[in-house]
Amino acid sequence: MLVLGLETSCDETAAAILRYESPANFSLLSEEISSQTKVHEEYGGVVPELAAREHLTNLPLILESALAKARISLQEIDVIGVTRGPGLKGCLLMGFTFARGLALARSLPMVGVNHIEGHVFAPFLDEHELQLPFLCLVVSGGHTEILEVRGVGRYKLVARTIDDAAGEAFDKSANLLGLAYPGGPKLAALADSVSSSEYKLPKTMREAHGFSFSGLKTAISLLVRKNAAEMARDEGVRARLAFAIQAAIVDQLCFKLKQAVKETRIKSVVVSGGVSANRLLRQKVSEIPGVRAFFPRMSHCVDNAAMIAFVAALRYSAGETMPARSEVVSRWPLESMGEPR
Ligand code: KG4
Ligand code: ZN
Repeated sequence: MLVLGLETSCDETAAAILRYESPANFSLLSEEISSQTKVHEEYGGVVPELAAREHLTNLPLILESALAKARISLQEIDVIGVTRGPGLKGCLLMGFTFARGLALARSLPMVGVNHIEGHVFAPFLDEHELQLPFLCLVVSGGHTEILEVRGVGRYKLVARTIDDAAGEAFDKSANLLGLAYPGGPKLAALADSVSSSEYKLPKTMREAHGFSFSGLKTAISLLVRKNAAEMARDEGVRARLAFAIQAAIVDQLCFKLKQAVKETRIKSVVVSGGVSANRLLRQKVSEIPGVRAFFPRMSHCVDNAAMIAFVAALRYSAGETMPARSEVVSRWPLESMGEPR
């Protein structure tokens, strides 16, 4: 079957076409993405109203070019998968309404996909071997959690952040270092440009349950303030501060992941979401003894439609379609979709 995936939950407009037979037999025919970085850059973050308008303009263009690249026509599509939540409501509505229009016009079934569920299964777009059960560390701009995954729709929350997400910790730290939006990848690149740092940050969240980046954020802000004059004089100082910050964020993520492996005795680990593109995080997770680690390919770490098409295919082949009156959901915790049985 041919699945069209659409993603508009935040600031990327994306479409993908997936030919799907089974979890071990499928191929991604095309994927198109239009990033809005330029639109939001001058505001230092995503402006929801502008993002929604961009989706409206981009959706038909992105769809047309995804179809052209896959060399198929809209008539050949069998099912539409679209991000239903979580995300910015106005943005979700653009993709959702567009998908509903297509589905109505062509009498096609539609599957509403949880964006985070897309991230969870993204590594298996390339690794055609689903290792169930697995632990998934979801690290994006809005989410930081560890889930126990027993199957599609079968999730148990192991740990979650009580304040910022890891992506936010990267972005806010980047801001303190004077790096422009989107700061996370810029901070990571700067950190990777040096091999050590004299700056030290505390190891955080060793005792309490879950993730928290607020204590670390305070420590980072004090450290940066203390070294502001040196940073302005010497670009190397900024890089070495970035090195210490990246190491501290990755340290907490890995510590909690190791703890979860120990608690659950599950040895397959997936890391996904925007921050899974981080080189140091990938390296450190790969080095955890006795663990088999899976990561999405770089282009599938950040928001994309291939992961949405994939989850739609998994769910549609299990008999799921979306009821006609469904709406978008801006908050949609994954564990509320079902507990491991
Ligand atoms: O999953 P994503 O594209 O969007 C959300 O659903 O939030 O994640 C975006 C987040 C941003 O906070 C961005 O700074 C972060 O992922 N990010 C990174 C890297 N690439 C993206 N953080 C650290 N290192 C990176 N290489
Ligand atoms: Zn995302």
